[in-house]
Amino acid sequence: MSSVIETLAGIVGAAHVLRGEDASGYEQDWRRRAQGRALCVVRPGSTQEVAAVVQACAAARVAIVPQGGNTGLVAGSVPDGTSTQVVLSLRRMAAVRAVDPHNMTITVEAGCILQTLQETADAAGFLFPLSLGAEGSCTIGGNLATNAGGTQVVRYGNARELCLGVEVVTAQGQVWDGLAGLRKDNTGYDLRDLIVGSEGTLGIITAATLRLYPKPAAQLTAWAAVPSLEDANRLLGLAHQQLAAGLTGFELMNQFALGLVDRHYPQLRVPMWREQPWCVLLEISDHESEAHARGLFERLLETAFEQGIVADAIVAESIKQAHDLWHIRESITLAQVEEGFNIKHDISIPVSRIPDFVRAADAALTQAVPGVRFVNFGHLGDGNLHYNIQAPAEGDSRAFVQQHEEQITGIVYDTVSAFGGSISAEHGIGELKRHKLPLHKSPVALDLMRAVKTAFDPLDILNPGRVLAPQG
Ligand code: FAD
Ligand code: MLT
Ligand code: ZN
Repeated sequence: MSSVIETLAGIVGAAHVLRGEDASGYEQDWRRRAQGRALCVVRPGSTQEVAAVVQACAAARVAIVPQGGNTGLVAGSVPDGTSTQVVLSLRRMAAVRAVDPHNMTITVEAGCILQTLQETADAAGFLFPLSLGAEGSCTIGGNLATNAGGTQVVRYGNARELCLGVEVVTAQGQVWDGLAGLRKDNTGYDLRDLIVGSEGTLGIITAATLRLYPKPAAQLTAWAAVPSLEDANRLLGLAHQQLAAGLTGFELMNQFALGLVDRHYPQLRVPMWREQPWCVLLEISDHESEAHARGLFERLLETAFEQGIVADAIVAESIKQAHDLWHIRESITLAQVEEGFNIKHDISIPVSRIPDFVRAADAALTQAVPGVRFVNFGHLGDGNLHYNIQAPAEGDSRAFVQQHEEQITGIVYDTVSAFGGSISAEHGIGELKRHKLPLHKSPVALDLMRAVKTAFDPLDILNPGRVLAPQG
């Protein structure tokens, strides 16, 4: 093994091969659900170095775990506990390679932090619309590897829809330059779309070409308290009708989730959370003017008040106030961590069926595990709920999760399947959901996925055992 480490040091320089204490930050996942131990962490600085690292690992049959910002929520970016896997960190590869204003594309290396990418696009006069709570530390490579969603999917789609091309190092250490940046290309199987969402199991993304959009003239944010989930759905329907493509965000938050933010971050001054069981956050983007956007919002909220769908609402008066409202929404995940260990379910259901799903799942869980607390929030515009369970207020939350996670998740996922949904809307499968996938995906689909994995990575060295369980 040590000869592999020496070879890797020869490729990237000894300073970029980390071991022991220096590697520890790469060995634990963001949620502290997985603690691994790496043979070493290797930090290449170029695509050629990534290719050489993969060749060396393949020759020695050493497994590689690609890692970007390590903000993933399904424990797919950290090594297992065997001290035999190499973590390949892309963080040094963060360059912006090119902005093409006429093609409306940007090409960046995989380790580029999402926020840097947004700011670079902004400085060039464009919008890069992928936006999520971890944007200050997640990387575009990780975003593509997980096909991240976030808060503007309702208008611009997931990471996959924003990606026009990828540069990939294969499991054999070859470089595939698929960065063309074409909006149309029907020359056979779409390899880019296979790589996107493959969670580091099919290839290592080293760079990507991404779509840019015109910057809107104005973005406005509103916060509304709604009496029921049915009303939240009605408001979403109205917003689609009246705002059409101007609707760029529609987020849902339950009272308990907002209460957690209020308890752990009282300085954020959560509005209206005591008034109704649900609040929604809406965002509108307008290409005419702020006055026009404000007029559209006023008309929407007037109709909603008349129909009794909304009990109370505010439209942010300034960019700062809009930012503060979004900050509250983005703080739910952190407030959950402050409260203790929790069980995450990142699910999607047809929007129309969400109220019935929540009623059914709440009832089944309350009966099976008394004391559970429901942290329910997410991207309602996409039918994507973070239907999370917080341990009861009293007692050891880690022990609660260890004892009840299988039962609780089983109930939630069975209900999701009964309502025609998916057990992973945006976070992926990784390590944590791998054993659940065969229960909720057809055997035909799983066989095809295994065949794809074998074709791309016959030695099974890229993030082995993630997404698909090891065979035999
Ligand atoms: P990592 O965590 O490092 O890796 C994630 C996976 O991708 C791993 O399987 C890893 O092996 C693989 N990978 C990483 N880089 C590469 C590469 N270059 N090539 C091949 N494989 C690679 N996710 C959402 O979808 N929507 C949200 O709204 C959202 N909000 C979040 C909010 C918070 C506070 C946090 C902590 C997380 C949130 N996430 C969200 C989850 C997470 O941020 C995303 O999954 C993100 O895309 C991961 O990027 P990363 O660079 O941190 O990847
Ligand atoms: C979010 O939408 O905030 C994220 O996906 C994070 C989470 O589920 O906690
Ligand atoms: Zn989310």
